[in-house]
Amino acid sequence: MKIVTNSAEETVKLGQQLGRHLKAGDVLGLIGELGSGKTTLVKGIASGLGIKKKEDVSSPSFVLIREYSGKIPLYHFDLYRLDKIKDIAYLGVEEYLFDQGVCVIEWAEKMQMLLPDYLQVDLAVKGENKREIKFSAHAQRYETLLKKL
Ligand SMILES: Nc1ncnc2c1ncn2[C@@H]1O[C@H](COP(=O)(O)OP(=O)(O)O)[C@@H](O)[C@H]1O
Ligand SMILES: [Mg+2]
Repeated sequence: MKIVTNSAEETVKLGQQLGRHLKAGDVLGLIGELGSGKTTLVKGIASGLGIKKKEDVSSPSFVLIREYSGKIPLYHFDLYRLDKIKDIAYLGVEEYLFDQGVCVIEWAEKMQMLLPDYLQVDLAVKGENKREIKFSAHAQRYETLLKKL
């Protein structure tokens, strides 16, 4: 499924719609270059999950994983600064991935082989304010989710 957004606000709205349908244990892997809108989408997801302070959702500079508390907790991974796959072992990612929260992972390709079933989201820059956002379901759960969007 492919969607084109024409502003950051549209990407936030798409994230909100997605966020409203997410369940504990869901894992989303975001893949796309710097500026493609990954963090913007996460802001929308946080809002859709009912997390209030969405302004606070930003790219963490010194931590790779941030937790936002809502009805369902949101674990926001940003692996931009992660160089080696073995470094991820020190993050204790399993505790997040198999917890009762939603995990959204920026630069998910850096830990692809460690991911359980996930919804793959590829973002591409198509113009100054245009982004193509492609969803690929790797499990039945995510096919069901995409049908709701
Ligand atoms: N359609 C769009 N969707 C998302 N962001 C957009 C869009 N158009 C312009 N932008 C801008 O592109 C930038 C995306 O940044 P960000 O979400 O931090 O990307 P990433 O996390 O992938 O590096 C923001 O400055 C945002 O305002
Ligand atoms: Mg980002």
